[in-house]
Amino acid sequence: MYNISIIAGDGIGIEVMEAAEYLLDNLDLQFTFSYGDAGYECYQKNGVTLPEETVKKAKKSDAVLFGAITSTPGQPSPIINLRKELDTYANLRPIKSYKGVESLYDNIDMLIVRENTEGLYSQNEYEENEKIIAERVITRKASEKISEVAFKQCVELGKNRVTCIHKSNVLKITDGIFKESFYRVGERYPNIEKNDFYVDAAAMYMITQPQEYQVIVASNLFGDILSDEGAGLVGGLGLAPSGNIGDKHGLFEPVHGSAPDIAGKHIANPSSMILSVAMMLDYLKEFEISSNIKNAVETVLEKGECKTPDLGGNASTMEMTKAIVKEL
Ligand code: NAI
Ligand code: MG
Repeated sequence: MYNISIIAGDGIGIEVMEAAEYLLDNLDLQFTFSYGDAGYECYQKNGVTLPEETVKKAKKSDAVLFGAITSTPGQPSPIINLRKELDTYANLRPIKSYKGVESLYDNIDMLIVRENTEGLYSQNEYEENEKIIAERVITRKASEKISEVAFKQCVELGKNRVTCIHKSNVLKITDGIFKESFYRVGERYPNIEKNDFYVDAAAMYMITQPQEYQVIVASNLFGDILSDEGAGLVGGLGLAPSGNIGDKHGLFEPVHGSAPDIAGKHIANPSSMILSVAMMLDYLKEFEISSNIKNAVETVLEKGECKTPDLGGNASTMEMTKAIVKEL
């Protein structure tokens, strides 16, 4: 029996979470759910974007599922704060091409490992003598920890190269340390190839030779940007899952946001959420069920009969979800 904390958020977060719950209800596993509020609609009701009650429930659960939220002007980001509260310092974002989905290349399979607790996401901006300053925090400790995760993932996935992304030619001290930490940790992994790119070149290689990437490790903002770029490469944000992992907690969420342009239409692609559920089940060591879910998504995409409009089809969120569950 697993206790799952469910934070749907708002916009399509609510619609894709319905898909996740439908899937969980149809698995051969026992779950109890505890529901938490967060996001823009929550702020309008409660005056806060992330109530303490939600954090408490998340901390007590075996894993957290998060949908998506709309940012609230002038308020801190609930998802950034939740990742920090749970100290889920590693954000794992697999990018994979699927048969049946139009994509620039058909052989992409990489993992972006994004540092999740510092970098430019410190949310500390202030004005000082007419200068507007945004704080970018890099510590040796977090840089080494995230590199360690990247190398471990590389071993676990049977891959053989980790690429560090940075901008140490300009951010000489902060990204100098990020890069140095990467190579220091890498010494413990003599059999794994290591290389590094400046983020601007890395963004181009993402389009021109993405097959060269196996595991990428990046600081918070660069990892965020490159993962949306990677998602675009393989068919869009509807296919991009993620896991936020720490030593005590795991939080799983699609890479996408609340998609106000399609919210309420029930046409959001549920795959990124469903694949995030599969990542959660891997985290809970339910490997077989997780693998079945990934296969079911692949089958539905390959058959191509039931897909949402972002993939060129006309199925609704729940129609595609039911097609995936039927394949299980
Ligand atoms: P977005 O990820 O919500 O949407 C970008 C584009 O991708 C839109 O055209 C959208 O329709 C499409 N898209 C996203 N998910 C899709 C899905 N499952 N199926 C089909 N199409 C999908 O990013 P955007 O528009 O920049 O931000 C919207 C709001 O979400 C903002 O308030 C932003 O701050 C917030 N946001 C929240 C995140 C989170 O909750 N973790 C992450 C990113 C943005
Ligand atoms: Mg993002």
